[in-house]
Amino acid sequence: MSSLTVTGGRRLSGEIRLQGAKNSALPILAASILSSGETVIANCPRLTDVEAALEILRHLGCRAEFSDGTVYVDSSSMTGWDIPDSLMRRMRSSVIFLGAILARTGQATLSMPGGCELGPRPIDLHLAAMERLGAKIDERGGNLICHAPGLKGARIDLATPSVGATENSMIAAAGAEGVTLITNAAREPEIRDLGSFLTALGVRVRGAGTSTVVVEGGRFRPYARHRVIPDRIAAATYIAAVAAAGGRIVLRGVCERDLTAVSDAFRQMGVCLAYRGNTLAASAGERIKPPLTVTTRPYPGFPTDAQPPLMAACLRAPGTSVFVETIFENRYRHVPELTRMGADIKVDGRVAIVHGGNPLHGAIVAAPDLRGGAALIVAALTAEGETRIIETKHIMRGYEDIDRNLQALGINAKRVED
Ligand code: EPZ
Repeated sequence: MSSLTVTGGRRLSGEIRLQGAKNSALPILAASILSSGETVIANCPRLTDVEAALEILRHLGCRAEFSDGTVYVDSSSMTGWDIPDSLMRRMRSSVIFLGAILARTGQATLSMPGGCELGPRPIDLHLAAMERLGAKIDERGGNLICHAPGLKGARIDLATPSVGATENSMIAAAGAEGVTLITNAAREPEIRDLGSFLTALGVRVRGAGTSTVVVEGGRFRPYARHRVIPDRIAAATYIAAVAAAGGRIVLRGVCERDLTAVSDAFRQMGVCLAYRGNTLAASAGERIKPPLTVTTRPYPGFPTDAQPPLMAACLRAPGTSVFVETIFENRYRHVPELTRMGADIKVDGRVAIVHGGNPLHGAIVAAPDLRGGAALIVAALTAEGETRIIETKHIMRGYEDIDRNLQALGINAKRVED
């Protein structure tokens, strides 16, 4: 088990290249099995979640290699259709493989994905979408046994704009005969990126990134190449770091369009964000103000994944910040850990009231989940003394080279093997 030590009190100064988007790479890796050919996926972040996805591809019989930010998948020799419990447990979002395996093989056996740190993670919308396309799904002994000898295009009305259910629907529809209409689709940039990848595979996709997506299944090209979009949540996390610690950083390879709600929130705090092409200069002075109420919403609203790091940055802003978490029911697990550092935060259900401006002190804290761990790093930047963050395996799921990036930004940060 490794931990991360961070010494607070330094202003940030430096430049880093932003990683490719984890939440775009994962569905694209799943979709790579649709064609029985080769796909090359560039700008893929080196993360444990990506490694878990490659393990699943190899388990299915594909060749999957990661080299210097590029993944090479050859699914011509794919024979499998099951994802065993051990692999399902390594990555909660493994359910994203369901549509692709069904479309490629006509069957799929997955162990029921458990909940995760954020609370129960239902997949009812995923399963309902697969059934709309003609799949028969049984639950036996904790496994999902799915059969779909031939998926047929259909209308899929999503009850909530679920990111994963939208992605599974698009991927399965790509392998279905005929046209599929998906309504109330999620509009996240990662959906748009999946649509671009499917198009590169030869699929006709319209409206990816809007509430209504049309997919025309059919033949696939034997080869496709794609470059993953920048990770907007990693960008939000590094902006939160400079908001908390002060100083000036430059992020290379950002996409301003994907960060509108995030930029608005940090600008309300007095953080200066200057975008020039795909480069962002972010700076903050001695004093920042609390943002107005922050309510998480599906895209284009404020992203739930950026709520924990933003909350940590608010601890330096004298005054009261109010957070309303509307997406996940258990997304304040970082609060008890922040409290150990001296934070004054009151949680009541989905609402968190942050009283910023109190000095924080270093402590030993445990990363409760991926973005909660990021919040602890942000808080440690302003804490007096050293903070030791344990359970960093959660952080490694989503932040490439986090220790080296913090060092490049002038922070005394070290990963230590416990
Ligand atoms: C994706 O998760 C992201 N993960 C999450 O990022 C992100 O927080 C989330 O979208 C929201 O933006 C990946 O892309 C790998 P949802 P996903 O389906 O698809 C409910 C991170 O930190 N729901 O949009 O699982 C669900 O309970 C991770 O990088 C159903 O009720 O999210 C939640 O309340 C954390 N039934 C809401 O919808 C379903 O079948 C949104 O979930 C599916 C979802």
